Amino acid sequence: MDLSTTYLGLELPHPFVAGASPLSDSVDRARRLEDGGAAAIVLRSLFEEQIDGPSGSPSLDGEATLPDPEECVFGPDEYLDHLQSVKAAVSVPVIASLNGHSLGGWLRHAQDLERAGADALELNLYDVAADPDLDGAEIEEQAVEMVQEVKRAVRIPLAAKLSPFYTSLPHFARRLVEAGADGLVLFNRFYETDIDVEALEVRTHVDLSHHHELLLRLRWLAVLSGCVPCSFAVSGGVYTAQDAVKAILCGAHAVQMVSALLRHGPACLGEVRGRFAQWMRERGYGSLAQMRGSIHFVTSPDPRTFERANYMRVLQAYRSE
Ligand SMILES: Cc1cc2nc3c(=O)[nH]c(=O)nc-3n(C[C@H](O)[C@H](O)[C@H](O)COP(=O)(O)O)c2cc1C
Repeated sequence: MDLSTTYLGLELPHPFVAGASPLSDSVDRARRLEDGGAAAIVLRSLFEEQIDGPSGSPSLDGEATLPDPEECVFGPDEYLDHLQSVKAAVSVPVIASLNGHSLGGWLRHAQDLERAGADALELNLYDVAADPDLDGAEIEEQAVEMVQEVKRAVRIPLAAKLSPFYTSLPHFARRLVEAGADGLVLFNRFYETDIDVEALEVRTHVDLSHHHELLLRLRWLAVLSGCVPCSFAVSGGVYTAQDAVKAILCGAHAVQMVSALLRHGPACLGEVRGRFAQWMRERGYGSLAQMRGSIHFVTSPDPRTFERANYMRVLQAYRSE
């Protein structure tokens, strides 16, 4: 049974990767991920604001509410030290992560991450379009330029981690790849802010993902893997071997897991991988390459019509009591 895959040009024995999170915040935890069966480890993100300083993010009452440096797990230098220590401790590829939304000197930090031994870089393009003067084309252009700038600065492979909220994701994804992205991670999660109506304060908390979030990822994997030539990682809602099977069938090269590992511990990676291999064996698949992308929309002459037809069918089929 050949589970090997190539993600961002990295040869991995299987597609199961520990996604960006606190799961690798210490060397010991990173080792546990490797022991649990992670084929690669993505470190938590270092934020643009930690490197370049705040550009200001307004709260409800208008003041900037970025966390103090002491609230951040790693500052820029500590991140580099941590990366070096993790690299020295594990033999699987270690992917560093930068998270930002604007062009600037902070992007050059990518070179330091490369020097500290990162095998690849994940650039998380986390942005909320809240400025009515800024149109979608400008936002996309900026993201494309960010990818270009990082790509110019480093030689290691680069993945862009995206949100699903773009007008034409296939067009935007293709531009990112033309700008130098070697892969795309689908998708970011938004940790939506709630409001405490007693204290009249905004409340944010990390909600671990839910299984149903995978469906959005599957749709876009199926669309993009048929028309954008790069590596794909799924991130969001993968808990079981069946989830991973679906992602690979839709075109993923790597399967990132975070919430499942936070809930059930790193050992669940190995269990999911075992069941995944069993599924392949039972269906007569000899390799991952054989099954990857067998459900992508290239097989459909017109994905738009396909989607609309499905939409109509679903609504028409519903019968109320
Ligand atoms: C506690 C926590 C911390 C996270 N930190 C980061 C981060 O630093 N950078 C990033 O790109 N994603 C981060 N994520 C998002 C995950 O990498 C992943 O995209 C998301 O949790 C969806 O995958 P899942 O369903 O497997 O959890 C974090 C998620 C959690 C739960």
